[in-house]
Parts: sequence; C-alpha cells; structure tokens
Amino acid sequence: MKKLVIFASGSGSNFQAIINATKNQDIHAVIAGLIVNKKNIGAVERAQKHDIPVALLTPDDTHQFEQQLEKQLHKWNPDLIVLAGFLKKIPERIIRKYPDKIINIHPALLPKYGGKGFYGLRVHKAVIEAEESESGCTVHYVNEEYDKGDIIAQKKVPVQPSDTPEILAKRVLKEEHKLLPSVIKNILNQNN
Ligand code: GRF
Repeated sequence: MKKLVIFASGSGSNFQAIINATKNQDIHAVIAGLIVNKKNIGAVERAQKHDIPVALLTPDDTHQFEQQLEKQLHKWNPDLIVLAGFLKKIPERIIRKYPDKIINIHPALLPKYGGKGFYGLRVHKAVIEAEESESGCTVHYVNEEYDKGDIIAQKKVPVQPSDTPEILAKRVLKEEHKLLPSVIKNILNQNN
C-alpha cells in the first residue's frame, strides 16, 4: 500500500478531503502521518478522530527543522508528501531528498498571486483588487522557491464583482477539495 504524509498548519479541510478519499477507496493509500507546526489546529483534531499519527514540529531554526523532518520522514517513509496549507518553508535538503515527491496546493492560478506573503485571505484580496475575472487553485511540485515548482493541475473559478476575499476563498476551497485528491490519485497511479 502506498503511503502519504500530509503537512498542515490550519483547519485541515484539504487534509479532510484526502482522508475521505482514502476512506472511500478513491485513493488507494494510507496516511502514515500528519506533520504540523502548531498544536491547537483543526488538522490535529481531524487526525485524532481518524487515528492518524501526528508529529508536532516546533524547531528553533532551519537546521533543527531539517533534522526533525528527516527523522520523521525516514520513519514514515512516504511515497508522496502533500503540503495541505502548511505555512512553513520546507528546507532545501528535504526537497532534494524527496525529488518529485512533494506537492503543494495554492489557492490561486499560479504563477500569478504566488510567492512569499501570498497566503490565506491575502491571496484572494489581491485577486479582487486586481479586478481579475477568474481565480482558482493550483497543485504543483515543490522546489526551492515558494510556489514556483512545476504546475501539475489547476481549476478555475469565476470572480464575481460582489466577491469579498472570504466569499472567493470559499469558492476556491470547494474546488481545492476536489483537485487535490484527484492529483494525488493520478500521481500514485502513475508510479505504480
Ligand atoms: C488552502 O486554501 C490552501 O490552498 C492553502 O491553505 C489553505 C488551507 O486550508 N495552501 P485548509 O487548512 O486545508 O482548510
């Protein structure tokens, strides 16, 4: 059975979409564990509810983060690592150790509205301020630069003139919950 390791820093609704897809056999894989950098977040509750092991990593610096991640990932030995709303940069050594095995979901149509500082509602605010007529979500491979790895799949949504960042975020998130599990499924199938 293929193994997934998920990283999250927030409510974990994308993590939940992955849990659901593994439960209903849409994704043939087990979630070996969840890595978080904060304790009291929705993602941890969801993991506990489904008996998924959680590793809380609160390193003092990048070097320590590298070491903690290396140890944890060695233990869980994932076929694919999924960043599902993880707000900490993955150290380069880890990226090099898992080439083409780390993917991220971003709530905009990259390469637009990506990079440092573009996270959460800030992304949707920028899209609305620029009067874009469409936005969406992107799943991409993770490389050394924020939101710059190769794009795997995107889904567009319209931006309405009356949208607030919150309303747009909801519309995009709904698509994220479909796009991310479908990309995971495809990648795991390709690597059979
Ligand atoms: C999502 O919008 C995702 O694109 C971004 O962070 C958010 C995480 O939401 N990277 P959730 O924790 O999965 O609900």
